[in-house]
Amino acid sequence: MKILHSHAQLQQWRSGFTVASTLGLVPTMGALHKAHATLFVTARPLCDQVLASVFINPLQFERPDDLKAYPRTLAQDLEMLESLHVDAVYLPTPEDMYPEGFVTGVVPGPCGDRFEGAARPGHFAGMLTVVLKLFQRCQPHIAFFGQKDAQQLFLVRRMVEDFDLPLTIQECPTLREDDGLAFSSRNARLSSAARKQALVLHQSLTAAADAFQAGERNPRRLEAWMQACFEGSPAELVYAAVVDDRRFESASTSATLPWRAVVGARLEGVHLLDNLPLRTV
Ligand code: PAF
Repeated sequence: MKILHSHAQLQQWRSGFTVASTLGLVPTMGALHKAHATLFVTARPLCDQVLASVFINPLQFERPDDLKAYPRTLAQDLEMLESLHVDAVYLPTPEDMYPEGFVTGVVPGPCGDRFEGAARPGHFAGMLTVVLKLFQRCQPHIAFFGQKDAQQLFLVRRMVEDFDLPLTIQECPTLREDDGLAFSSRNARLSSAARKQALVLHQSLTAAADAFQAGERNPRRLEAWMQACFEGSPAELVYAAVVDDRRFESASTSATLPWRAVVGARLEGVHLLDNLPLRTV
């Protein structure tokens, strides 16, 4: 597995491939877990070359304490990537990614200010800016993203379409622990008590999904079911919403189906998020 520390090393590695070989990029911020592994497992048979990027992007952290507390586990990450037969890892430094004088950023549009964006001002602008830079530098044919970050995935797809970027976005399903908690690098920051309390996020999503399944089509009443799950919970609810999946905005009438339930909450100062599509089976 090649370790690429700079843009120059990445360019040199990238220039070795013929036009016909398919390059897959899995962008990450490290602290890799089983859900990341599924992105690489999905990528491997679809791509001739699989490239991981590990970069904790300072632009997408609105709070310096959150950036500082973000888990850093590079040695284990590299071991995991090697075992998943990843061909190369791009490990840029902040100086390599944002050299002196860097000022331009991507504006996400109105969706960037909703839900996660309202809770974390500037987060999506910083996320899209680094993703665009990674796409430009790595020139992937396919980039792999998890559905757990549904709003991120929506905005990346929007950017690819709006800027005519020549690549395909491949989404991978959310991976959950047996009890329903979605895998997240942030789970590592929770105490064992908070880890159990974090189940309330998934419970609120299944409450909405069950009510939807039972025929409820009023998005505000579905949101009320979600909110009710947080009553008495130490988790601080940041948002619980039913969104129109095509526009990622608050759902109105059933003419806007399909819908998705999305939730964000804080526990012990750790921001957690999850989502579930609302479907009838
Ligand atoms: O989902 C993440 O880990 C990050 O937001 C991403 C896509 C790697 C950009 O920094």
